[in-house]
Amino acid sequence: MPSYGHSQKRAKRARPVEGTPTPPLNSQPMPFPSTRLRRLRRTDALRGLVRETELTPGHLIQPAFVTAGEGVRDEVASMPGIARLSISNLVEEAGEIAAAGVGALMLFGVPSVKDDFGTGAYDDEGIVQMAVRALKDAHPDLVVVTDVCLCEYTSHGHCGVIREGSAEVDNDVTVELLAKTAISHAEAGADAVAPSDMMDGRVGSIRHQLDEEGHSGVPIVAYSAKYASAYYGPFRDAAGSTPEFGDRRGYQMDPANAAEAVREAELDLEEGADMLMVKPALPYLDVVRRVKEATGAPVAAYHVSGEYSMLKAAAANGWIDERAATLEALTSIRRAGADAIVTYYAKEAAQWLR
Ligand code: PBG
Ligand code: ZN
Repeated sequence: MPSYGHSQKRAKRARPVEGTPTPPLNSQPMPFPSTRLRRLRRTDALRGLVRETELTPGHLIQPAFVTAGEGVRDEVASMPGIARLSISNLVEEAGEIAAAGVGALMLFGVPSVKDDFGTGAYDDEGIVQMAVRALKDAHPDLVVVTDVCLCEYTSHGHCGVIREGSAEVDNDVTVELLAKTAISHAEAGADAVAPSDMMDGRVGSIRHQLDEEGHSGVPIVAYSAKYASAYYGPFRDAAGSTPEFGDRRGYQMDPANAAEAVREAELDLEEGADMLMVKPALPYLDVVRRVKEATGAPVAAYHVSGEYSMLKAAAANGWIDERAATLEALTSIRRAGADAIVTYYAKEAAQWLR
């Protein structure tokens, strides 16, 4: 018989309330435990006193897609509620995001022209550079993080430059172009840069070159553990960044690995990363926890497009309570150890949390 921390003598049989059906007692009565965890679950106020995990709008980062043109609001079919916006519409949307108390906006560019070298990514007059200037001008207090990658800008859709005569992304050539991209974002006024390419050594190179160019105060949010995931499908629709050949398994991580994620995280920290990111989020909560515990560094988790679209689809069918299911998912990501959460639900969730 288990011990409940007090003497057996004092244990009393529970007195049944009148009218309550009593279960058949065909053996010795069990002493009731002195510990009853339900006591602190009785009321909302009691639950609030002992809640371990907090989810606030300030923890959330809203991704947004900016595209060329005027007055464009191009809905993404696989991501209800998300649209590619031209700059003035993005600035308006950013006002709502800021008003909802969302912590930051993460910007992805959808350029009108692409080439083999992703030139649009590091063009000072590129779509992201122009959008950042407009955003910081209109909403100076809203934190703007820029995605640093080439896949939206390359004609083949890979995250870097393809080495001649091969089907492989050339790591070191790509790293140079990523650093150029990060510098042009910083020059435009980005508050932080977030390399999502998974090339080796890019954090060190970006840090070094940012510092040389006078941007030593611009933090790097490194996608340290970015998995080759099937959950990116809707994003690739939105950004037009599906690889023309092959896949990204030659540079993104194998979903079966977790110890490797810790190595990636430690390397990125050594190279100068300020925040580490794990992506996707819900299928990788164990990785979020391991990276947090191993490094103690600020960790973000990216609740990706596929995770968003699944919730939206189930909600549209009336199969789940969208608000409750979403807040539960986001709370779980925080509970696993994430400080910040990148999520397409950021604005909506922030409005629910108000
Ligand atoms: C590309 C990039 C991807 C995402 C963010 N940056 C997709 C990919 O690797 O193909 C995915 C985000 C999402 O699914 O929401 N560097
Ligand atoms: Zn990419």
